[in-house]
Amino acid sequence: MKDTISINSNNYEKKSVGPNCVLIKSLNPQQDDFAAEISFGLTRKKKFIPSKYFYDANGSRLFEEICDLDEYYLTKKELEILSAIKSEMPKYFSQHGSVVELGSGSSIKTRHLFESLLENHSHVKYYPIDISDIVQESSERLQDEFTNLHITGIIDQYEAGLQLLKNLDDKKIIVFFGSSFGNFDHIAGLKFLNSIRNCMKKDDLFLLGIDLVKDVQVLEKAYDDSKGVTKNFNLNLLARINAELGGNFNLEKFEHRAFFNAQENRIEMHLESKIQQQVYLEGVDLQIKLEKGESIRTEYSYKYTLRQIKNIASKSGFKINKIWQDEQKYFALVLFSTR
Ligand code: AVJ
Repeated sequence: MKDTISINSNNYEKKSVGPNCVLIKSLNPQQDDFAAEISFGLTRKKKFIPSKYFYDANGSRLFEEICDLDEYYLTKKELEILSAIKSEMPKYFSQHGSVVELGSGSSIKTRHLFESLLENHSHVKYYPIDISDIVQESSERLQDEFTNLHITGIIDQYEAGLQLLKNLDDKKIIVFFGSSFGNFDHIAGLKFLNSIRNCMKKDDLFLLGIDLVKDVQVLEKAYDDSKGVTKNFNLNLLARINAELGGNFNLEKFEHRAFFNAQENRIEMHLESKIQQQVYLEGVDLQIKLEKGESIRTEYSYKYTLRQIKNIASKSGFKINKIWQDEQKYFALVLFSTR
């Protein structure tokens, strides 16, 4: 059995951070061009800011606060499912001793999986992939908690990280929690599923968290909470542009808008200009004009029906082994296998 993954030391730096814990960090990760992407989005006829830019230090902290809100059911429902299906997991995962997680963050949800797998395996291998250095902290913490977990943390983009793990000999479960899949439009979503599919061997599995279409009020409240945390999360994009691109956005001159687009089955978040105004970004020497009521789109968060889930599975060459839902059927965990 190949126990370790082979890496090219020109591209990756490898360091040991404990007896069962190794970190692999990309030396030249594919970098986002913030200045170029913001300038592009703000000079379109329909202005937009890519939602991946929410997560600077402040935005990441606000997102964690969102996850704790009563109205933001997603995190809670996904955890509810994971904890409810724990006793069923061995039935589906008995042969699988390796877990690959995309966007692992603090790995809280994955703990349920480890606990179950460790009942059938003397040790479990865990490969968290995240672009953020948080992988080190959370790996060290996990290592203290689960002595039989062998962790190889990968600090890189998902696709690049997955490429490293493509040829693992162990049967692996790839997991992607949190419904971040919802940020992809349907075309990008299919492309993503195909790229996952291409990194899987015959007996590998893919476990995906997806938010479901439901009552509009429930959906809209989750993105427009009573404490205004989501509003601040949204406005933080403007603060980030001010800080990093020398902008002079006045946050008070923008309204947070979040609504469900029922044609497209997606929540849309926007920042709407309260007045006609001009904004200048000194760092990229760009003047932007906004009409009163004009909006900057900041996020699409797609919701799925079970039918749509089955549809994307068949389009991407996946077979669905199981769909688990919480009691209220707000959220789904979908287990895919290669045909
Ligand atoms: C991290 C993309 C899953 O779409 O629900 C939360 C981001 N935006 N509140 C989501 C988000 C506003 C979140 N995802």
